[in-house]
Amino acid sequence: MTQFLPATFSLVAAAAMLIAGCSPSHPDAPRRSKAPFGSVDGKEVFLYTLRNNAGMEARITNYGGIVVSLLVPDKSNTPGDIVLGYDSLSSYLKATPYFGAIVGRYGNRIGRAHFTLDGKEYTLNANDGPNTLHGGLKGFDKVVWDADESTPATKASLTLSYLSKDGEEGYPGNLKATVVYTVTDSNELRIDYAATTDKPTVLNLTHHSYFNLAGAGNGDILSHELMLNADKFTPIDSGLITTGELKPVEGTPMDFRTPTAIGARIAAKDDQLRFGRGYDHNWVLNRTGEGLSLAARVTEKTSGRVMEVWTTQPGIQFYSGNFLDGTNIGKGGKPYAYRTGFCLETQHFPDSPNKPSFPSTVLRPGENFTSTTVYKFSAR
Ligand code: GLA
Repeated sequence: MTQFLPATFSLVAAAAMLIAGCSPSHPDAPRRSKAPFGSVDGKEVFLYTLRNNAGMEARITNYGGIVVSLLVPDKSNTPGDIVLGYDSLSSYLKATPYFGAIVGRYGNRIGRAHFTLDGKEYTLNANDGPNTLHGGLKGFDKVVWDADESTPATKASLTLSYLSKDGEEGYPGNLKATVVYTVTDSNELRIDYAATTDKPTVLNLTHHSYFNLAGAGNGDILSHELMLNADKFTPIDSGLITTGELKPVEGTPMDFRTPTAIGARIAAKDDQLRFGRGYDHNWVLNRTGEGLSLAARVTEKTSGRVMEVWTTQPGIQFYSGNFLDGTNIGKGGKPYAYRTGFCLETQHFPDSPNKPSFPSTVLRPGENFTSTTVYKFSAR
């Protein structure tokens, strides 16, 4: 694997590393490296490795901002890869249910592929029956992002940016999106999103990793215990479009306020579970203030791994991998069968552009959109 060192880093830091014996925990040791991963649309694609000094490592490509692998220690301090994905770029190009990707311009569904903003109607590309899902035919998960290699390689972070042109997929405005991935020394994968636009538009950026805390390809996720910090969720209709209501979870299989196995009630006779073919819903987070607030906690007993999700966003999509069917052959040749990964996608509520009572997803010229989500790992 080749490593790049920005010009400002090279001489002084290299000398410091020589003195320090190149110890990976030394503050000047590189925490980011780079290897070729192929090319798309005539643009080179790379696989970046971010590592901290506590046993965590993320490999991320600038194609779709995809987290290709995420090594996290288990209770015996053995690292394991806990996200579903592929070994090669060509597999991502062939077919992927958004494995590990950055999703935009609008994550989740926009009903009937249209919305009205400031009295003007916009028609989007439909890619999910009559609806638009995860940005449309060629969303942010399918484009090559620019990686800013001028940021110091002594930090385990990767800055990606993408200019989505006015009219792309039907959305108005040139939207400049920036996503910074950081692997912190407290075993967190932190994602900072930012965006600006030159015309009013709608925006909902999220991250679509499929997690399996027992290790990618190691069985289903039904015995993982989930806590969702939410008293309400947004019910869907049979086309998986939010109805506009906020419904209390109390007394329903959507109540994860106390930790419950994902599989405990997934087969219950319930219209919402029937429409979603399992869990595929947005929960309305119980928030305190505007900063990062705990959204979810997942524990897996055999590995002892625990994942917490903290976010500044108002909602979270919990998706139980209901569309996985074993046809995606993942890393190491392992097929990803039904419900062998789950997603926790922090977000604004699905179909907000058509639901005036939901928190607004409108971004206007002059405004700076920012949001942060942290996936925090530990083991016990
Ligand atoms: C999201 C959606 C699901 C499904 C997956 C990708 O989580 O809510 O319905 O489309 O993405 O397969």
